[in-house]
Amino acid sequence: MAAPDKKVCFITGGSGRLGSELAVSLAHHGYTIFFTYNRSREKAEQVLDKICAVAPDSSMTRCDTSRVSDIEDAFRLFSGRYNRLDLLIPSASCFFGTSLPDVTEKEWEELVGTNLKGTFFTMQSGAGIMKEQPFVSRIVAITDIAANLVWKGYAPYTASKAAVEHLIRVFAKVFAPRVLVNAIAPGTVTKLPEWDDIPEEELTENILLQRLGRAEDVVKALLFLADSDYITGQVINIEGGRLLN
Ligand SMILES: NC(=O)c1ccc[n+]([C@@H]2O[C@H](COP(=O)([O-])OP(=O)(O)OC[C@H]3O[C@@H](n4cnc5c(N)ncnc54)[C@H](OP(=O)(O)O)[C@@H]3O)[C@@H](O)[C@H]2O)c1
Repeated sequence: MAAPDKKVCFITGGSGRLGSELAVSLAHHGYTIFFTYNRSREKAEQVLDKICAVAPDSSMTRCDTSRVSDIEDAFRLFSGRYNRLDLLIPSASCFFGTSLPDVTEKEWEELVGTNLKGTFFTMQSGAGIMKEQPFVSRIVAITDIAANLVWKGYAPYTASKAAVEHLIRVFAKVFAPRVLVNAIAPGTVTKLPEWDDIPEEELTENILLQRLGRAEDVVKALLFLADSDYITGQVINIEGGRLLN
């Protein structure tokens, strides 16, 4: 149980490349963290060590967000451990390319099941707790600027992220004024291993600010939304001007 006056953040996908940086940064900014991982237990343990060095009441659990029963179990565990939920960050996400004519039902279900269904039921459970609290709390879903781009080989992924950006507006409407619901859509922050041989100039040629994003760029927006009282139903694109090209 965290100290009663300490804010608590629930973040899914805390074992991810960006997700782990968000979780650790929020711990440094005073939050107690409860995070989920799915397959990467070893990485999750390393992340938890870093978090607990500054937020010792933090904890984690395994959760496959494409399974509603896993999400319900995670929230049950959360509610047994913590008595408040200040910030919910659905960040867990599945990402791989799928040539459109060859997309299989299994691939669709993995991508859309994790990214859209998982985010929906995570927000439904979280908002259910938040609406009963005697203070304003916040949801910040992590989407992707790809929701606004037309990538031929990623239709289930981009469609799932675009759908989450729609959902945040519905959740904002349903749960106002007690719960503020927004999204952050990053451009590329972490390079994929298969991009290792691509020169940096090529990766950044369509980005007006001439560099890839950094985790701290996303953290700044997250802290801004976590502290804002009059913003709901919005998406902040953190992309260095990529969408203008
Ligand atoms: N990194 C970027 O450059 C970038 C750019 C744009 C948008 N984003 C968005 O930012 C968010 C965080 O990205 P990231 O870099 O942390 O992604 P990542 O490195 O690919 O990690 C994905 C995370 O989601 C979890 N996950 C995957 N499938 C899951 C499932 N079925 N159930 C539960 N958890 C599952 C993974 O858990 P396990 O590893 O434990 O299985 C991991 O924690 C994502 O929403 C992503 O779409 C990232």
